[in-house]
Amino acid sequence: MSNIALGIECRNENADSWRAWRILHAVFPVTGYLALACPRDVGCLADDHSCTPFACTRRSDALRAALQAAEISTEGSLEMFVTILNCATVVIALFTLAMVFKTRAEQEKLRRRQKRAETRHAAVLMNEFRQIAAFLELRDLLQPVRPLPMLREWAISPDFGLLLVDLIDEHRPRVIVEFGGGSSTLVCAYRASQATNCGIHSYDHDDSFAQRTREQLQKHGLDSHAEIHYEPLRPSQFLDDAGEVIEWYGGGSIENLPADIDMIVVDGPPSHLNPWARYPSLPAVYDKLSPDCLLILDDAARKSEQQVVERWLKEFPEFRLQSPSTEKGAAVLVRGSRSISI
Ligand SMILES: C[S@@+](CC[C@H](N)C(=O)[O-])C[C@H]1O[C@@H](n2cnc3c(N)ncnc32)[C@H](O)[C@@H]1O
Repeated sequence: MSNIALGIECRNENADSWRAWRILHAVFPVTGYLALACPRDVGCLADDHSCTPFACTRRSDALRAALQAAEISTEGSLEMFVTILNCATVVIALFTLAMVFKTRAEQEKLRRRQKRAETRHAAVLMNEFRQIAAFLELRDLLQPVRPLPMLREWAISPDFGLLLVDLIDEHRPRVIVEFGGGSSTLVCAYRASQATNCGIHSYDHDDSFAQRTREQLQKHGLDSHAEIHYEPLRPSQFLDDAGEVIEWYGGGSIENLPADIDMIVVDGPPSHLNPWARYPSLPAVYDKLSPDCLLILDDAARKSEQQVVERWLKEFPEFRLQSPSTEKGAAVLVRGSRSISI
């Protein structure tokens, strides 16, 4: 920054030249002083043109006045400069502080996000391990003669399969009714053929899936242990919470089921058809349940299944709920003297 103030001696001492001087003065903060005299032959007031710029009385007066004005202005400018400098320093300090806080907050947010991702990742890995371990255990227990059909996704997960085997072993049901067949039917049929002498009635609303399950049972030599009922969904006597009719397996064969059902396995109809789709599973066979029956519901981690369980417990208060931990959530409703040790 220049430390030189230009004091232009005013030739004609008129307002314009003073204004020019002040503008220059504002642009160059003053600590020194340089007087620029006009050429002698222009605007010099001495008659003989003999004066030097600093000897000219008129000029000297003007110069003195300019110097005085420059001093006053210099003080004001310095003060203003220092004030602006202080303000700028405060603003820069505040801005830097805000940036530091913002960066720290962002770092903290990233750290928490990373921690959540790590926790989720660990939970996913742990679940994968649990499913593989459950599958190996299931295979050891069932000793399948052919490869088991795919588990997980639409089918039950290995841990739910293991829960079914455990409950069959523990409670020795004579009649199992299943809504929504597939791999679960095969698991139940394997255990039924090995550990108990029970009959399985499995319902499917879809003909192709019903046929696929029949073929799987045949392949594994289990077709005599399970009967697959293909029954398309039809409007039923059951209403959802809004008073709308719920569709249910409508073939009429439920009427002919034996009157001592010990276990109900619920994995259908698909809940995407209606969040209340699985509600009829209990009231539809209620009159045919044995006193110590169990109901096992898959996908109990879903909101739709949870509202169904809540309604069952309200309408059938003799049932108690147990919730074994499985990949998709399981709800086991028990009544009578039954309890489960899981
Ligand atoms: C949740 S699935 C039942 C799965 C069965 N419990 C199992 O372990 O394989 C309910 C119904 O969906 C139908 N379903 C089965 N697999 C399906 C698939 N991959 N895509 C669409 N629907 C399917 C069948 O009609 C079945 O009765």
